[in-house]
Amino acid sequence: MFNNNFTLNVHNTLNNNAFAHNILQWFEANKRDLPWRNTKNPYIIWLSEIILQQTRVAQGLPYFKKFLENYPTVQNLAAAPSEDVMRLWQGLGYYSRARNLHFCAQQVVNDYAGNFPSTYQELLKLKGIGSYTAAAIASFAFDEAVAVVDGNVFRVLSRYFGIATDIASHAGKKEFETLANTVLPPQEAADYNQAIMEFGALHCSPQKPNCEECPLKSSCVAFTNGLVQELPVKINKVKVKERFFQYFHMTCGDQVLIRQRGAKDIWEGLFEFPLIEMDSVNALKDINQQIFNGLEVIPTQIVHQSSQVFKHILSHQRIFANFVRFEFDEVHAPELQAWAHVHDWQLVSSEAFEKLGKSRLILRYLNDEE
Ligand code: ADE
Repeated sequence: MFNNNFTLNVHNTLNNNAFAHNILQWFEANKRDLPWRNTKNPYIIWLSEIILQQTRVAQGLPYFKKFLENYPTVQNLAAAPSEDVMRLWQGLGYYSRARNLHFCAQQVVNDYAGNFPSTYQELLKLKGIGSYTAAAIASFAFDEAVAVVDGNVFRVLSRYFGIATDIASHAGKKEFETLANTVLPPQEAADYNQAIMEFGALHCSPQKPNCEECPLKSSCVAFTNGLVQELPVKINKVKVKERFFQYFHMTCGDQVLIRQRGAKDIWEGLFEFPLIEMDSVNALKDINQQIFNGLEVIPTQIVHQSSQVFKHILSHQRIFANFVRFEFDEVHAPELQAWAHVHDWQLVSSEAFEKLGKSRLILRYLNDEE
């Protein structure tokens, strides 16, 4: 087992220069042509960085294009109805990013006359902008000499310099941030920051780094000591909670009963079907119809029950969901409307439902059902 106390102090200036130089040279030869790399516009850079958090480039790219097409300026985005922003974000996950994105656009318009602040410290004051995003915007758009530290940077630095501090710990974050800023060449902050992230994403990858063809291998502590697979060290403290959702997909002619998810829970603000949360996976599919309490009319029939229990993995929760579909005769629309009102649900046309933001779980079920 790898000794956690192992660190090597190789942070001398000579080595740092060689490290940055090699990374920059590699980048020149291997970089992808990505649309946010050909601009200094802070709005475009900010948009790309928010979309790319916890998201792969291939998945984020179409969203980036859609957002820029719909909202070419920060003013356009700030003025958009929040439902539209949530709908456009649909499928990307981590929906608080979309809410913060919208809020931040309004802050820039209202508090900064539509101009993004140009320094790391000032950018940190905006909603949804943490140290990584502030460093990315400050360096890419304004050439400020401040280092980005994301998962790629942790990996490259921990391997090259042989640092085994837990990257999930506060002390680890501080240590890597200090080192990242020490090795950053101040005159080339924008290119170097892009370069080290790209090197981590494409070359020094988590599972199969291309060490044989690496320009840094002779001075890489992890490579020369056979520790590439051991680094970086990340001690996972996240507890994953399991939840069991019994959804009721209820239709009445062309209309469907829906609810909006509330605050302080996953998928805040998104739309879905009414549900009962059960306490075990075995309780799913055992439909006791308690959801219909308080309703005079009864559904004509169970039209369909999802054949599978959907398993949906989020960063902190594992959701198991079953969907059961009921149909009501169209003559009962008024009673349903009144019943929905009591529960704070809505009876809407399926066309209106289609235009609302939904979680990936709901989309998976709807796609499956078609
Ligand atoms: N991931 C996060 N930011 C990125 C960027 N600017 N380029 C490529 N991948 C990224």
